[in-house]
Amino acid sequence: MKINEEVQKRKTFAIISHPDAGKTTLTEKLLVFGNLIRSAGTVKGKKSGKFATSDWMEIEKQRGISVTSSVMNFPYKDYQVNILDTPGHEDFSEDTYRTLTAVDSVVMIIDATKGIEAQTLKLFKVCRMRGIPIFTFINKLDREGREPLELLEEIEQVLDIETYPMNWPAGMGKRFLGIFDRHNEQFVRFNGNEEETYIPYSELDDPAYADLTGQSTFEDTKGELELLEEAGDQFSLDRVLAGEQTPVFFGSALAPFGVQTFFDTFVSMAPAPGGRRTTEGVVSPDKEEFSGFIFKIQANMNPAHRDRIAFLRVCSGKFERGMSVQLARSAKPIKLSQSQQFVASSRDTVEEAFAGDIIGIYDPNIYRIGDTLVEGKANFEFDELPQFPPEVFKKVSAKNVMKAKQFRKGIEQLVQEGAIQLFRGKRDDSFILGAVGELQYEVFEYRMKNEYNVEVVLESMGERIPRWLKAEQVDERLFDERSLLAQDREGEYLALFKNDFALRWFTDKNPKVDLIDLFEVN
Ligand code: G4P
Repeated sequence: MKINEEVQKRKTFAIISHPDAGKTTLTEKLLVFGNLIRSAGTVKGKKSGKFATSDWMEIEKQRGISVTSSVMNFPYKDYQVNILDTPGHEDFSEDTYRTLTAVDSVVMIIDATKGIEAQTLKLFKVCRMRGIPIFTFINKLDREGREPLELLEEIEQVLDIETYPMNWPAGMGKRFLGIFDRHNEQFVRFNGNEEETYIPYSELDDPAYADLTGQSTFEDTKGELELLEEAGDQFSLDRVLAGEQTPVFFGSALAPFGVQTFFDTFVSMAPAPGGRRTTEGVVSPDKEEFSGFIFKIQANMNPAHRDRIAFLRVCSGKFERGMSVQLARSAKPIKLSQSQQFVASSRDTVEEAFAGDIIGIYDPNIYRIGDTLVEGKANFEFDELPQFPPEVFKKVSAKNVMKAKQFRKGIEQLVQEGAIQLFRGKRDDSFILGAVGELQYEVFEYRMKNEYNVEVVLESMGERIPRWLKAEQVDERLFDERSLLAQDREGEYLALFKNDFALRWFTDKNPKVDLIDLFEVN
């Protein structure tokens, strides 16, 4: 059965991390494994440039190769690897979160010198909520970092997930000797910038390695390892696949060290695409008919054409260029003639794709985020994509009141793309925007001017905490500037609290009013 064979080869994942933990560096190494670039060098100076829309675009600029910014795919061993970028840094946005709805597993990078950082935690929570298997890479072992046990404890406590160290480091920083690769029963020796060497456990007694095994760091680590074997958690692939246990790999993306063993183990364990929930029950990836959903829309990838590309995750069947499908929302037939796959070497046209693959389809302004495309008569929709908590709010208006019509049109369309959410202030009917990060506003302002010819005025409301209310409990007199009453696009009421204090004050004063956190996870 060809479809199933193809599906089983797919490994579709995203790398999540806090800025500077090493995502770009690790991604580059994986590109080398995929033969997409010949050698990896440190990507320098990536902090310059205001609209650094993706770390990968930086790789593209620095290395002179074309890594289209969102998806990379390459064959590796018996697998077909799809890596999705999760925009970080200044362009952290809903797209970052939403990408996680299109993957089957994630790699979480943690900087050994810092431990868990804010952005990792946010993204991790979304993975947990969705039960996505998480593989952890603890990076920068070539530097003096925190104790391995302490790092594992932090992951267990802060993230509330069981850990299983797949390898165990012997020293770190200047004393770093290598790792005990528990999974493959070998010691991987760190040789600085030279290639690592692999010594099977059974050969470690050989006098040839006395310079290594004689060191106190090595012997101490052996002791720790024995304790770990006796007292640590058992490895369970079932628990890993259920997102309840995370296999932890120590290494250095820069050296590189431990990356090869990490990646080989990762691709062998990471899940292939599974069934996806729809309004008509679960759809299996090897179902004959093609289906997929749109998780991201990107405008103007080519400024000369002002085109929009919808990113579609294939969930079942076989995609073929030029095929006819149906847009489930409107039951409208569509011919998918202009499609592309995002490969590092070029934006190639895709001829066929299977579950797990991501394809870009030309969007003549008909798609919305979350849309389902299906082949044939089937009529179902995939589960709605979750919305994510906006954090930064601004009031927006047109500089020139005569432009009200274009202003509304522009806002409607940009809001549909999903990077920004729209609310209306109850008292003055003002337009209030909410976004996950600041950058969205710069992009919004720029696009309103360039695409809709409207100059906008943005008035900062700072960070706000949104809480939804039941319509019958809304009494306008209870709300003021610090608990601004507004309505979302569905007409549901919400209050935008200025800070934790304002939120607590309101709850104390009005204990009978239920405040609902739509974005609560866990
Ligand atoms: P990011 O995409 O997650 O933001 O991180 P990136 O790979 O750009 O790495 C951030 C910095 O950390 C880079 O330093 C990079 O060389 C360094 N780095 C990544 N992996 C390792 C590692 O295993 N060991 C060590 N010692 N350093 C590592 P940089 O080039 O100096 O850039 P920057 O700090 O000026 O951004």
